[in-house]
Amino acid sequence: MAAIRLGDEAPNFTAQTTEGEIDFHNWLGDSWGVLFSHPADYTPVCTTELGTVAKYTDEFNKRNVKVVALSVDGLESHHGWIKDINETQNTTVNFPIIADENRKVSELYDMIHPNADSQLTVRSVFVIGPDKKIKLTITYPASTGRNFDELLRVIDSLQLTAYHKVATPANWNRGEDCVIVPSVTNEEIPGLFPKGHKEVKPYLRMTPQPNLN
Ligand code: BEZ
Repeated sequence: MAAIRLGDEAPNFTAQTTEGEIDFHNWLGDSWGVLFSHPADYTPVCTTELGTVAKYTDEFNKRNVKVVALSVDGLESHHGWIKDINETQNTTVNFPIIADENRKVSELYDMIHPNADSQLTVRSVFVIGPDKKIKLTITYPASTGRNFDELLRVIDSLQLTAYHKVATPANWNRGEDCVIVPSVTNEEIPGLFPKGHKEVKPYLRMTPQPNLN
């Protein structure tokens, strides 16, 4: 399977999950999506990651993002492990976890990197837009838990570009000035960015974050 690249259509699949069988594209509907893999159930870093994602439910909902996790363990294992996650991370896992025992989805999304581990998935993250296109890919090693604040930050940036024609500069955080995308002409700026703008260079035009009051 060739690597999945930005702009590709997210491959569709059906899979067994802890919340029943899903057809991925139907399940996504008009939402944004996050599909993320972890190496195995009952492992320490993964336990903290899934607990963190559960605690961020409101943040994902606010952004119209549906989240689904995956590992190559089975449903029985997932259900037992969820109890541990809820207990140890003081939360309630409320998103589906795919039981990819036959590695169908892992292979479709190139989540097994044999030179890292021939059997288990790495920590892949795919962000998928409402158009079902891949917007972000991230790959972390098994030993490093992901930064889900960073994931939300990138989703905010992707949505600002999709809905407000701005990009985000280096180390941008919510509330900070954004970059007007190059396809916007100077003539269009007053209508699109009523909060004003600053032209640092003709190609570097800054404006306050458009979707904040
Ligand atoms: C973990 O999820 O805790 C883990 C998995 C593989 C290697 C190291 C840590």
